Amino acid sequence: MNIVLFGPPGVGKGTQSALLVERLNMLQISTGDLLRKAIAAGSELGKQAKGFMDAGALVPDQLVINLVAQEIKSAGGRSVILDGFPRNVQQAGALSEMVQGLGQKIDRAIFLVIDEALLFKRLTGRRVCEKCGATFNLETQPPKKADQCDRCGSALVQRKDDKAEVIGSRLKAYKDSTLPLHEYFQKKGILAEVDADGPVEEVFSRLRKFV
Ligand code: AP5
Repeated sequence: MNIVLFGPPGVGKGTQSALLVERLNMLQISTGDLLRKAIAAGSELGKQAKGFMDAGALVPDQLVINLVAQEIKSAGGRSVILDGFPRNVQQAGALSEMVQGLGQKIDRAIFLVIDEALLFKRLTGRRVCEKCGATFNLETQPPKKADQCDRCGSALVQRKDDKAEVIGSRLKAYKDSTLPLHEYFQKKGILAEVDADGPVEEVFSRLRKFV
């Protein structure tokens, strides 16, 4: 089963994807994570993406479409969670062609819904491990030791685009480009909505009903 997880920045797509990977052995394809890795590795893709990401804008479609096409091909038919892709209707069209070309389909597009005021708190409070990528939140999921990853002991950092001044641009990009996917997937008859407000496990059990 292949699913798309979409919703505003900070709604919990990465958190819920991690649980789907751990408990259902699905494969997560997160374009945000892949782009951050490309930046850390200093690759050509990373150099092209960095300015857009730091400013809270979307990276050009063709760069992310190529990236996802490679990942989907190498998934070898394993059930996939697309986290953060597609981000607009053009990317959704490209995804549809990609999966059809492999004799597959997108079974469900799950829209995570939350109040905008909560998003701001989730984003400004997020801290991520530089080494293993584990995610924490100063308010809702604090690490046991300040600024240190519970899983591997490495330093926790704040993502550049989680600074208050960039969040507004990310939300605008979401509303302008990503929100129209709600109607797109509804018309395809594969849309499901999940309330993302509440403890992580509670949100997971709501989401699990659609997977
Ligand atoms: P990306 O990394 O995809 O960022 P995003 O969509 O803005 O989503 P986030 O990663 O910020 O949030 P999330 O929903 O995964 O929330 P999380 O689980 O971490 O993209 C970054 C950038 O890359 C984009 O701005 C763009 O430039 C570029 N990009 C990526 N994909 C692209 C594409 N397809 N096309 C073009 N450009 C692209 O949770 C957030 C916080 O809340 C955490 O601290 C967590 O601990 C906490 N939390 C989660 N769930 C709960 C809960 N239930 N209760 C309490 N706290 C919770």
